[in-house]
Amino acid sequence: MATDDHWVFGYGSLIYKVDFPFLDREVATLRGWERRFWQGSHDHRGTPEAPGRVVTLVRSPASLCRGVAYRVEESVFAHLDHREKNGYERHRTRLYLDHREATVSGTFYIAAEDNPAFLGGGDDRELARHIVASHGPSGSNADYLLSLTQALRELGEHDEHVMNLEREVLRLQNEACTAGA
Ligand code: SIN
Repeated sequence: MATDDHWVFGYGSLIYKVDFPFLDREVATLRGWERRFWQGSHDHRGTPEAPGRVVTLVRSPASLCRGVAYRVEESVFAHLDHREKNGYERHRTRLYLDHREATVSGTFYIAAEDNPAFLGGGDDRELARHIVASHGPSGSNADYLLSLTQALRELGEHDEHVMNLEREVLRLQNEACTAGA
């Protein structure tokens, strides 16, 4: 491995929207964190006036978060920093590469509670209503959620929080179709 190679871990859109070059892609697990749709999105899935909701990670010592790790060249971080600019910061960690059964140093992007775009939690119905109503330059907020659930299924990952939101969002979308029919 060249010395300027780095691993970056994706747990949200970085799993399914890969708009950067990479040298390797591996299913990976992060210990001590869990996904939450608690971060506001002003620039991708919402607008500054009506932010959408996207995932960040919150500490949870007993949890494992499965995602995808990419081995990238250092230069890729300029693109990722720009893409993740709305409240996310780089964080260093140890990552477990599932198929290699090896641990490596890596980076992930986290939107901490003290960033201005942080929205925090709510009940699933409230979060789902917010997601269904939100749209931004990268598309609808519902598509972000549904692309993530599809990608997680392909990884064999069952994330209770994300799957509950998917169920609520699909229910709301069905209701809207039935009402509009
Ligand atoms: C990530 O995917 O790792 C960060 C959150 C996002 O961009 O959706």
